[in-house]
Amino acid sequence: MFNLIVVLFCAFNSIVFAFVHSPSLNDVLFNGGYDFIDLTHSFDKSTIYWPTMKNFTFTEKFKEISEDGSWYAANNFAAGEHGGTHLDAPYHFNLNGIRVGAIPLDKLIVPLIVADISSKVNDDPNFVLQKHHLDNMLNNNFGKPFYIVFKFGWSKFFDDRDRYLGIQANGTFNFPGLSEEVAEWITSSYKNIVGIGVDTASVDPGSSIDFPVHKIASAAGLFNTENVKLDVTVPDYGCTALILPMKIASGTGAPLRLVAICPKQVPTRF
Ligand SMILES: *[C@@H]1O[C@H](CO)[C@@H](O)[C@H](O)[C@H]1NC(C)=O
Ligand SMILES: *[C@@H]1O[C@H](CO)[C@@H](O)[C@H](O)[C@H]1NC(C)=O
Ligand SMILES: [Zn+2]
Repeated sequence: MFNLIVVLFCAFNSIVFAFVHSPSLNDVLFNGGYDFIDLTHSFDKSTIYWPTMKNFTFTEKFKEISEDGSWYAANNFAAGEHGGTHLDAPYHFNLNGIRVGAIPLDKLIVPLIVADISSKVNDDPNFVLQKHHLDNMLNNNFGKPFYIVFKFGWSKFFDDRDRYLGIQANGTFNFPGLSEEVAEWITSSYKNIVGIGVDTASVDPGSSIDFPVHKIASAAGLFNTENVKLDVTVPDYGCTALILPMKIASGTGAPLRLVAICPKQVPTRF
């Protein structure tokens, strides 16, 4: 009798266990159902930096075989905050905004929405994104916080600095960007957006001299990510973004490793 009770108890226990056991994140991510997509340009001597910033410099410091035959290598690097694939902290354009090191992880690991407007841009450096270009999104009620990346189709020019920045004879820039109207929409109507991304050098159009999109996003506490590498296909929704800047405590910005984790079977809902 006693043995029977023990057996019943154990059986009951494992049933309860089966009910409460949910798969770990590892079980989910590594079951073969996900793609890991790198949205980051490499950092090297040709990485595009904002012209007032120090370019990426990489100095080989040690590269040698010791007397005992073992190998040792180590390098130095230096760079401005704003170049290559990078993040702008709210403090970049707002005195009261937080700096890179203070951005909480729950804003940096979030659902990703890719708004592919490249067919509307059609390689025109004068294109400025207006609300009417986003008609299909405007009335969507996205429930959860998310990060939105606008694909202008500009990553294919990244290897050609003059073309990418649209450098004019007088030294000014010309590449597509967001309008002030879209920045207002992002920050006022859809407060669930935690950050903005673009596959160009700036969220403001290249010709901008007063950077309203930067100012509006910063004032609303959003971060920007610029020079996102979008020359690969990324589902419009369903992916999770890992937006992980180098944790420069006082940074106004920082180099960023940006990754999308995307289910191979795109879900029917955001
Ligand atoms: C960075 O490199 C570019 C391309 O070579 C050059 O035009 C620019 O002047 C450099 N920037 C600085 C601050 O040295
Ligand atoms: C620089 O040249 C471009 C193209 O010609 C022009 O649109 C822009 O107004 C000029 N900017 C300045 C500051 O001269
Ligand atoms: Zn920046």
